Amino acid sequence: MEDYLKKEVESRKTFAIISHPDAGKTTITEQLLLFGGAIRQAGTVKGKKTGKFAKSDWMEIEKQRGISVTSSVMQFDYKDKRINILDTPGHEDFSEDTYRTLMAVDSAVMVIDSAKGIEPQTKKLFKVCRMRGIPIFTFINKLDRDGREPLDLLEELEEVLEIDSYPMNWPIGMGKGLLGLYDNYNKTIEIHRPEINGLDGQKVIKLNEAGEIEGDHPIKASSLYSQALDDIELLNEAGNEFSEEKIASGKLTPVFFGSALTNFGVETFLNTFINFAPSPTAHTTTSGEKIEPTTNEFSGFIFKIQANMNPAHRDRIAFVRICSGTFDRGIDVTLARTNKRIKLSNSTQFMAETREVVQHAVAGDIIGLYDTGNFQIGDTIFEGKLNVEYEKLPQFTPEMFMKVNAKNVMKQKSFHKGVQQLVQEGAIQLYKTFHTEDYIIGAVGQLQFEVFQYRMLNEYKSETIMTPMGNKIARWIKPEDLDENMSSSRNLLVRDRFGNPLFLFENQFALRWFADKYPDVELTSLL
Ligand code: G4P
Repeated sequence: MEDYLKKEVESRKTFAIISHPDAGKTTITEQLLLFGGAIRQAGTVKGKKTGKFAKSDWMEIEKQRGISVTSSVMQFDYKDKRINILDTPGHEDFSEDTYRTLMAVDSAVMVIDSAKGIEPQTKKLFKVCRMRGIPIFTFINKLDRDGREPLDLLEELEEVLEIDSYPMNWPIGMGKGLLGLYDNYNKTIEIHRPEINGLDGQKVIKLNEAGEIEGDHPIKASSLYSQALDDIELLNEAGNEFSEEKIASGKLTPVFFGSALTNFGVETFLNTFINFAPSPTAHTTTSGEKIEPTTNEFSGFIFKIQANMNPAHRDRIAFVRICSGTFDRGIDVTLARTNKRIKLSNSTQFMAETREVVQHAVAGDIIGLYDTGNFQIGDTIFEGKLNVEYEKLPQFTPEMFMKVNAKNVMKQKSFHKGVQQLVQEGAIQLYKTFHTEDYIIGAVGQLQFEVFQYRMLNEYKSETIMTPMGNKIARWIKPEDLDENMSSSRNLLVRDRFGNPLFLFENQFALRWFADKYPDVELTSLL
């Protein structure tokens, strides 16, 4: 049994793809699924153009097709590996869920548009990966278009994200002049469209000991080739050294160039990625114990809860990251928070195009449990006497705020119940103004407000009035430092749901003004 489990766990590669919208995450995901044979044609994951849903369609689509559920976890086999890709949605549905998804993966792939470089959303998501110390692999995309100088891009990546980089390959030209990729790691040159480039029709050329093409080859006549060699030489001398150890601890990101759209460099990326991306490792419990994935008993934690399609049944899907052991349909588990025993018979596994009933899964896999209200985000479930509780999922600093009231004053009870439950579930964060105790809800993404309002109405029959307050900067203050006179028109004083005081600052200026005025007061943010 142990050997079997070890082999299974080692074959798992569970990762998220992060990017700013439009960098090419969907396109690259589709290519990966095509390699894995999980889909037959591009355009399946997200119908382009027609498929870029308006926000208001989200719930409707969710109901009809469960699309955001099916596309949020994709599993397929490639070579001898089982790959689990977790989707982190782009800006339209950006939320705390997006961040929490990063708690459930073992590595991340960061897709960057070669013309744009590091964009805000990438930076935000990267920060969370960084905090977890998971390996990050970079794919610089759209090489078939004119983009920025590769050296420039590396420099920006290192500076803005404060991470070392190591180019695994290097572009020879770009845009219309893209000739190929100098593969620094495999010591080959991959030719872009050999059929039209007239470069002997050969796809891959092996390099000699000196890292050059042996003998005659038309590509050698190109100044782009010598430019690439010069760059590589510079990088080999002055750049970072390749270090598997540093990759594993998230201190160095291997960088790959390519074009997802023309499927250039993606396969090489995938092959190298599965070599270095980690298999599941131990997870830490609240008592500091490390639970190995090969532990026989099943355990896992819930990182996401998705309101489900059928309002009549109020069912939801709880996404579980398996941390140890094997899951077999129908096993009995204990919910650590309540000590309640639950039989897991109604479970689902995610494939690219369908959802199937899952019979068997192991550490590293993600399963979906139909839930009628048992689970909360961050909950641990375990089998037998394992008796573990995994570390709490972090809370994230919200950036947008809304005042919220019940439309019908006669229905205060269901309003309060709904708010309390959705807050506990992690759908939204709740604050109260200091003396009047008005409700303010906070989120990292607009979608959270929409989901909140929809679920309040559908699950708690409570119509809400939401008054946008716009973006704010939330900073906590130690209760002993607090003087209520510190509050002004530019910083609203509130309490979080645990009673801790914090200010919601109008903007950076208001924050700086505060820091200047009260230099001894230390303000803190969440992640
Ligand atoms: P996202 O999930 O990160 O938001 O990006 P997505 O894959 O949807 O790609 C965004 C746009 O960029 C798409 O164009 C896509 O075709 C294009 N794209 C992706 N990879 C490449 C690449 O390697 N080269 C080039 N030139 N373009 C790329 P669109 O016009 O929005 O959609 P459509 O043309 O597919 O209809």
